[in-house]
Amino acid sequence: MNSTNRTIGVANQEDLESIWTLLRGELFLDQFSRELIDEKLFTNPAPDRLASEALLCHEGERLVGVMQVVRRDVDRKGWIGLFAVRTESQRMGIASLLLDRAMEQLRTKGIDEVEVLAVPGNYFTPGIDPRYTSGLCFLEKRGFRRFKDCVNLIGKLDVPFETATDIARLESEGLEIRRAREQDGRLLDAYFLREFGDDWRMEAGLALANDPPSLHLALKDGAVIAFSAHSTQNREWGFFGPMGTSPETRGLGIGRLLLRLCLNDLREAGHKTAVIPWVGPIPFYSHHADCSVERVFWRYRCHIS
Ligand SMILES: CC(C)(COP(=O)(O)OP(=O)(O)OC[C@H]1O[C@@H](n2cnc3c(N)ncnc32)[C@H](O)[C@@H]1OP(=O)(O)O)[C@@H](O)C(=O)NCCC(=O)NCCS
Repeated sequence: MNSTNRTIGVANQEDLESIWTLLRGELFLDQFSRELIDEKLFTNPAPDRLASEALLCHEGERLVGVMQVVRRDVDRKGWIGLFAVRTESQRMGIASLLLDRAMEQLRTKGIDEVEVLAVPGNYFTPGIDPRYTSGLCFLEKRGFRRFKDCVNLIGKLDVPFETATDIARLESEGLEIRRAREQDGRLLDAYFLREFGDDWRMEAGLALANDPPSLHLALKDGAVIAFSAHSTQNREWGFFGPMGTSPETRGLGIGRLLLRLCLNDLREAGHKTAVIPWVGPIPFYSHHADCSVERVFWRYRCHIS
């Protein structure tokens, strides 16, 4: 099949099976279900702020490449999400073709900066695992620059964490520790407006929508002062986060407790391990939940002129 038979189009859910098959063949470091890819490519956690689509390259009837493109017009940011080309079709310019199309689309929409993989609230990984050597060679060739590293931690969930002592202590100090409730939307709006911003508000909303809500809160005088969430995405991986404690109440053991409440939830849901993605304060997780570094990712971005 030569390049004249190539077509580029936009994926829809009917393409899921073939996309999943292609990604499973190429992303050899990761294990994931069809449902997880469905979430990454066809579920938009913030349709009012993010626009997302997956571009496909076919040669004749055969799917040979996929590349997700996401943008957020409000701050002119874009993302190249999952991308891969079938092994037999690599080094023939297919990823380049997809990237040209994606970048043109982003440029047309006024996007200034494009990052790789770290799609807010819906990321497969927060950057590229450098062991996907072909991926990073491709990105560097195409003008993306590495600007940061980040890690995912893994925590074992063999035994439940003891939480009763911390709860009793904090309650005796006047705090309320509880699982979030459906009607907590306004409390969360106020909290995230004050402390951690829209992206984490969106993720807290995803956690709140789970049944039961996968969101634990600490409150003082009726206002949220700390939160921790899990299972907002990538549920099959036992995904923790995000979490945050207001600066003035740090160091009191609130974060430790909220972390452990989430890990206990994940354990009860049947997970043997939890992924603590895209951290953050490694010593905090290592100390309080014996987590260790599992994977390292390189973050890449480029500016569109
Ligand atoms: C990365 C990937 C998508 C590239 O697809 P591709 O269609 O082969 O890429 P292109 O043919 O457009 O390559 C463009 C340029 O990128 C660079 N490049 C691509 N693959 C490379 C490799 N394996 N080694 C070194 N450079 C490479 C080259 O400079 C290449 O130009 P050249 O062939 O003229 O030298 C493909 O190798 C792949 O699917 N890898 C596994 C999945 C992956 O790593 N995804 C990223 C994480 S989600």
